[in-house]
Amino acid sequence: MGELTREEARKRIEWLRREIRRHNYLYYVLNKPEISDAEYDALMEELRQLEEKFPEFITPDSPTQRVGAPPSKEFKNVRHVKPMLSLDAVKNDEEMRAFDKRVKKELGVESVEYVAEPKLDGLSVELIYEDGKYVRGATRGDGIEGEDVTENIKTIRAVPLVLRKEEMDVPKMLAVRGEVIMHIKDFEEYNKELIERGEEPMANPRNAAAGSLRRLDPRETAERPLDIFFYEIMHQEGGMEVETQWDALHALKKWGLKVNPLVKLCKNVEEVIAYHREMQERRDKLGYEIDGVVIKVNRFDHQEKLGTKTRSPRWAIAYKFPPRKEITQVMDIVVGVGRTGTLTPVALLKPVDVKGVTVSRATLHNEDYIKEKDVRIGDWVKVARAGDVIPEVMEVIKEKRTGKEKKFVMPSRCPVCGSHVVKEGAYYRCTGGLSCPAQLKRSIEHFASKNAMDIEGLGGKTVEMLVDKGLIKRISDIYRLTKRDLMNLPRFAEKSAENLIEAIEKSKEKNLARFIYALGIPNVGEHTARILADRFKSIDALMNAGMEELMAIKEIGPETAKSIVDFFAEERNRKEIEELRKLGVRMEYEKKHGKLAGLTFVFTGSLKDFTREEAKEMVEEEGGKVASTVSRNVDYVVVGEKPGSKYEKAKELGIKIINEEEFKKLLGKGRKKKEVILPLDEFVDEK
Ligand code: IVH
Repeated sequence: MGELTREEARKRIEWLRREIRRHNYLYYVLNKPEISDAEYDALMEELRQLEEKFPEFITPDSPTQRVGAPPSKEFKNVRHVKPMLSLDAVKNDEEMRAFDKRVKKELGVESVEYVAEPKLDGLSVELIYEDGKYVRGATRGDGIEGEDVTENIKTIRAVPLVLRKEEMDVPKMLAVRGEVIMHIKDFEEYNKELIERGEEPMANPRNAAAGSLRRLDPRETAERPLDIFFYEIMHQEGGMEVETQWDALHALKKWGLKVNPLVKLCKNVEEVIAYHREMQERRDKLGYEIDGVVIKVNRFDHQEKLGTKTRSPRWAIAYKFPPRKEITQVMDIVVGVGRTGTLTPVALLKPVDVKGVTVSRATLHNEDYIKEKDVRIGDWVKVARAGDVIPEVMEVIKEKRTGKEKKFVMPSRCPVCGSHVVKEGAYYRCTGGLSCPAQLKRSIEHFASKNAMDIEGLGGKTVEMLVDKGLIKRISDIYRLTKRDLMNLPRFAEKSAENLIEAIEKSKEKNLARFIYALGIPNVGEHTARILADRFKSIDALMNAGMEELMAIKEIGPETAKSIVDFFAEERNRKEIEELRKLGVRMEYEKKHGKLAGLTFVFTGSLKDFTREEAKEMVEEEGGKVASTVSRNVDYVVVGEKPGSKYEKAKELGIKIINEEEFKKLLGKGRKKKEVILPLDEFVDEK
């Protein structure tokens, strides 16, 4: 390719985009690619290079612009054009026929046509196109409002950024609904990666798809192959009206919006039932999860006449599949400990193939579940996989019992750390908290989080690595980390290692309330932590508090009191706290409310409007502290007239220096010296 003029480049760019869009359509919508992947990649590459040379021609709908938006802090909420309804369900042919009968009766007709579609097990989204251009995408949310995931949806290759108008005019505004899914092979890959990273695998492709779509960084969504099928025109303006669901599906397809190829127009309910049966037979070979079929009255005027209920239409129904079941034997029952310390009993099974997936473990949820189903070690059971990869023990085949089956008892100690186990509702929980390896990563993340000890740079991936490399085995190890430890890790350079060490050092000064919150005691959030700090004023007093003493506090109920007592009853936790103290974590009480909470002041020189004592009182009233010497732990040095050596020291250490006026501003706008009514004689004296 020789040097192109600007004009030639513009033309070539336009041609490339058209070609790429056409091939996307052939590939994704028609499933009839005309070129190889390599040829397609070459077109993309050429476009990318030309756009790089002529950035003035880049448009947001260019195929190169799918990934590029920066990560966001949170998703905005957006209101749907029309409520995104959900569906009522039927379970068998009889109920399906009853639905048909009701529909015909209400419409006053002899026969009704239905469109039958696979019920995709993903998450539904709304996409908006204006003048044929993709402008917005949102999750379903509560049906009225969803989350704005425009940039994330843009990364899905099967979503056209520009609608095709070759076969059909595009409306000025088009709102469509579809289902975002993850293919099973991609899901398995994803889970493999999660397990390798030591994270909990996703229960099913739907959760995986939802998790990927809701990444705050669209680049992470782009890494996870997601797919989409469209099935509903929710709203359109300025386009040709379509009159049936069947025509709507065809219109979607013509615009380049991928429709599931297995949709079918059924003449009557018997054809619907046959369709359901056929799909159930094919479901395991599709490569993606479907959990039933959706049946919709074809004619829109009929749909309108039938109307909708609050949450679901009267003109559509989900005809679900029964869960996939198989019989096998329980070889043992073991207990797993989750990241939050919950103990989950798991049945280890003689491996069995449940429709294409080998199942060797199944969840038993909790003790009550085991009791209710009376599952024993050695039992023959039915296991079901209801779209989930983590299957469930459904029922025991009691006729197969030999008398040799053994009852299971929940352990009284955590199988991972040996701490005591307590029961909370239906669940057992390990009280090891801080000291349980199963909970370690989560404990550290929480401990270091912004509102706890606020150790910047000690988040998800770093914690992951520090634990995996064995540098942190318990929470106090945070304070044993050295710059050299960090610099041996792939993520760190000299500067970043220094920063983290400094952040860790700084966290030692955090007050008692934050420290209590950082411990991650179940049921003790920030608010409760503050109340506890105000009431006990030291960690030792709190550690020794009994149930009654705790429950005497207005905001603390029996459940929270018990969590606190259980937590400190665990010797390992007490030891860890002692370790932290030895390592220099101060956990000092400090009034936590007020404008100056957490700040330390030093005064030097004389102030115009207050005495030292008054200034100190005011700082403390707003939750701040006053120190007598300047050190790195001081936040502000307030300089009055004729300052002393503290001023020099502050400059040397780079501590923020403010004058009296600025100090007053910190205390609150327009705040004046406290008004004191002086006795007359003193008043006269002053004069
Ligand atoms: S139609 C009023 N069609 O199933 C129309 N939904 O249980 C409601 N779903 O939230 C949706 N495949 O996420 C429709 N072909 C399909 C579907 C489908 C999957 C999901 C959708 C909806 C849920 C309702």
